[in-house]
Amino acid sequence: MRNIKWLAGILIGLALIAVFAFARGPASIKQTKADFKDSGATYAKLCADCHGADLGGGLGSNLVDGVWEISKTTPEIEKIIADGNDEAGMPAFSDQLSSGQIKNLVQFIHQQKPVQTIKAVVNVDSIEGGVVKSEVWVDGLDAPWGLVFIGPNRALITEKPGQLRQVVDGKLLPEPITGTPEVFSGGQGGLLDVAIDPDYAENSWIYLVYSHPLEPGSDKSMTKLIRGKIVENKWVQEQVLFAAKPEHYIKSRAHFGSRITFDDKGHLFFGVGDRGRQDVAQDLTRPYGKIFRLKRDGRIPKDNPFLGYSKAYPATFSYGNRNPQGLVWSDGVLWETEHGPKGGDELNVITPGTNYGWPVISYGRNYSGSELTPYTHMDGMEQPVSQWTPSIAVSGLDVVTGDMFKDWNGYLLAGALKFKELRLIKVDGSKYISEQILIKDKGRVRDVGMGPDGAIYVTLNSPGQILRLTPNNKKEDK
Ligand code: HEC
Repeated sequence: MRNIKWLAGILIGLALIAVFAFARGPASIKQTKADFKDSGATYAKLCADCHGADLGGGLGSNLVDGVWEISKTTPEIEKIIADGNDEAGMPAFSDQLSSGQIKNLVQFIHQQKPVQTIKAVVNVDSIEGGVVKSEVWVDGLDAPWGLVFIGPNRALITEKPGQLRQVVDGKLLPEPITGTPEVFSGGQGGLLDVAIDPDYAENSWIYLVYSHPLEPGSDKSMTKLIRGKIVENKWVQEQVLFAAKPEHYIKSRAHFGSRITFDDKGHLFFGVGDRGRQDVAQDLTRPYGKIFRLKRDGRIPKDNPFLGYSKAYPATFSYGNRNPQGLVWSDGVLWETEHGPKGGDELNVITPGTNYGWPVISYGRNYSGSELTPYTHMDGMEQPVSQWTPSIAVSGLDVVTGDMFKDWNGYLLAGALKFKELRLIKVDGSKYISEQILIKDKGRVRDVGMGPDGAIYVTLNSPGQILRLTPNNKKEDK
């Protein structure tokens, strides 16, 4: 018995020494925890340019898909990193990295999970002409931003400089609605979206979201949401539904958001951009880079996701959203489009409490073209369902409904300012399938929406027009 214990003791001892020695590697290699932590940084500095920030490949191969073409075993992988492979175009790193650092780097690579990058939407087909016919419905508007029908032949249009206009029977009334609030008009700020209550026929509530100056004439501003009614061409009974704290009004003229949409459970959603301050989109204590959810009268829903965090705005529904410019609820899915910087415009499905990653992850770059972030993915941050690189400058989003375009029911319509296009996006549930260009080069598309007649109405920022799209039934000449 005693001998066996003694023997076991020696064996365990030997095993421990072996494990220890193996873990430490040859005495000449210094392996410290710090080294290992640094591997991520080393990778980002030396390898990411070719193999992708998320190791998903680029000029060099994907390093996390389990496919090894040149090197199979771990020592072979270490060797190719040290010695390179001229033929394949893999540089040698032995003069920049110690063999310990290389070992750590390979361990680091082995620990990374494969990522599914969202491929940019490019080479989109145009179906303009053959399928839809477009006519100018209203002309002579000053930077129109939002459009909503309040009756079969009556629509409201916001003009960014601050007027709320009315179209009756296809004619723009010369007098704007009086009594609407003063807006901060400058840069991207102004009178933004207009929407009507889902029960408008009974309650007449109209919702406006706009850039609100802290005091009359102030250059500090913030996105604000109100509702009111129109009686005899006058804006009356105004109620404030959302206003930021005064200390959150800032001098930026950029990224106000915003669109308004409603679900079928009595909620209203609207978005606010990062105001050009980037990192604040990750800060739950501040109202930038967020999608908000309220009840239609401005009360906070009891199940809003950040109520447990006392410093957050209680209306916060999602965060890390750079500049939401399209928002529409359809069939249980809240769709959002947001501007990326240079590249990385996104189509997102917004869910409660979710972080959409801006500016920590992005498919875009800085406007200068320099790198904004090496990351397109990160744990705890949501991917877009689709992304546009280069940016098309997404603006305005709606869902096709009604009989006039029956084949497209449930498809999304997305406007593009820079590309001067209207995109028709096929989706399935909350999945992106494909897209086509519906109209092109008519002007910078600011908003899009379905009319009560089933036609598609496209708001052009410049020229200040609204187009009406109907099916083109003209038979081909034979
Ligand atoms: C200048 C671009 C470039 C840089 C920088 C670069 N690589 Fe490579 N690497 C390549 C190319 C090209 C290949 C061969 C591509 C292929 O296998 O299809 C390659 C191959 C490899 C392979 C072999 C893959 C296989 O399938 O067998 C490994 C491992 C590797 N690189 C790791 C790294 C690491 C780690 C770094 C950073 C220290 C790095 N590379 C930096 C371009 C690069």
